[in-house]
Amino acid sequence: AALALGGRELVEAAGGPVPGGGATAGGAPGAPTAPDDAVGRATEGFRGTRQAGVATPPQASAAFVALDLAGDVDRAALVRLMRIWTDDIERLTSGRAPLADTEAELAAVPARLTVTVGFGPAALAAAGVDEASVSWPAALPPFGIDRLEDRWSGGDLVLQVCADDPLTVAHAVRLLAKDARSFAEVRWVQRGFRRAVGTTPSGTTMRNLMGQVDGTANPHLDVDANLIWREDGSTSMVVRRIAMNLDTWDELDRDGREKAVGRRLDTGAPLTGGTEHDEVDLEAEDEHGLTVVAPFAHVRRARTDDRAQRFLRRGYNYDDAPSGGAVSDSGLVFVTFQADVEAQLVPVQRRLDELDLLNEWTTPVGSAVFWVPPGAGSGEILGQSVLG
Ligand code: HEM
Repeated sequence: AALALGGRELVEAAGGPVPGGGATAGGAPGAPTAPDDAVGRATEGFRGTRQAGVATPPQASAAFVALDLAGDVDRAALVRLMRIWTDDIERLTSGRAPLADTEAELAAVPARLTVTVGFGPAALAAAGVDEASVSWPAALPPFGIDRLEDRWSGGDLVLQVCADDPLTVAHAVRLLAKDARSFAEVRWVQRGFRRAVGTTPSGTTMRNLMGQVDGTANPHLDVDANLIWREDGSTSMVVRRIAMNLDTWDELDRDGREKAVGRRLDTGAPLTGGTEHDEVDLEAEDEHGLTVVAPFAHVRRARTDDRAQRFLRRGYNYDDAPSGGAVSDSGLVFVTFQADVEAQLVPVQRRLDELDLLNEWTTPVGSAVFWVPPGAGSGEILGQSVLG
């Protein structure tokens, strides 16, 4: 029997496919299978040549946790930490409690949990890796629009923890941070969300807090795998915290909002017509002879004919408690994956730095770059290729 949930069918049988989810409704062994816990019981595979959490269809909740290594962490200590984390992550993502889990019941709901581990500069140095050999920049170059704060920037290690349930995310974050305690301390945590599972049809592009359909023009993971992954299965992750000034955005009318991006707010379709996934016509002119997609529009500035300059955007909304009398503290945890940060992401960010009307309402306040090692094959630890 199958359960129709918000347009998405979840197959009840254990191990059955979940359309659009790429997951299996596996779950804790021996537990009864009920249709209404199918979202909680769904799992994403952990072992493989590439880490999960990149090509995985984005889950509803996420936490990004950056850690700073203790001064005495050498290669041997990093190996020990990766051995612990690899075992923890394998268990958690399959709905089993890790060895040191003091709240084991919380592990029983994997909800498509993925944990993606990344190395910052100090972790690579501790591993004895020459940065040039992984072709990976320690940080993005500075941009004029940046107002970066230390409390959202940098980090020696990162955990990207995503699941379709926020309690699952919180439990995994706490367990992994606890198990790392003698090696590293938490530097920053950024929590993010998309719509809950079942509230929109599976595969719907997310909306950000400016109300825009956000994530339409992403590379196709099957045909553009070489843009995301290196041959060995490694990639890089950039995490930029971008604040939105929604109070001044409120002052703009709908027409102005659509012109700032170059796409319609209702459907996400290009202003030049069609539906969401139709091509934007950058040459099209209006009755006054002006281009329909303005020179300053975000999509015109971000888009490129050079197909080698594309990358995967897999960000999340954030909405934190405001301070200082502000109404909101909202924005995007803007996350990208690409084989080569300097060749793919930096030229685009540079163009947006020079001109992008969205910059009027958005401000980058955090930035970090991580090397994401290949996935752990059977019997391997995360980071095996540099630590093994
Ligand atoms: C497209 C919003 C920051 C790169 C878009 C679209 C929206 C959007 C609504 C159109 C739909 C889509 O294709 O996803 C935002 C917001 C941002 C932000 C609200 C900040 C808060 C950035 C940054 C970069 C970027 C920092 C790169 C460094 C792109 C790219 C596209 C895009 C490459 C696709 C362009 C195309 O090929 O049509 N963004 N964006 N965006 N954005 Fe952003």
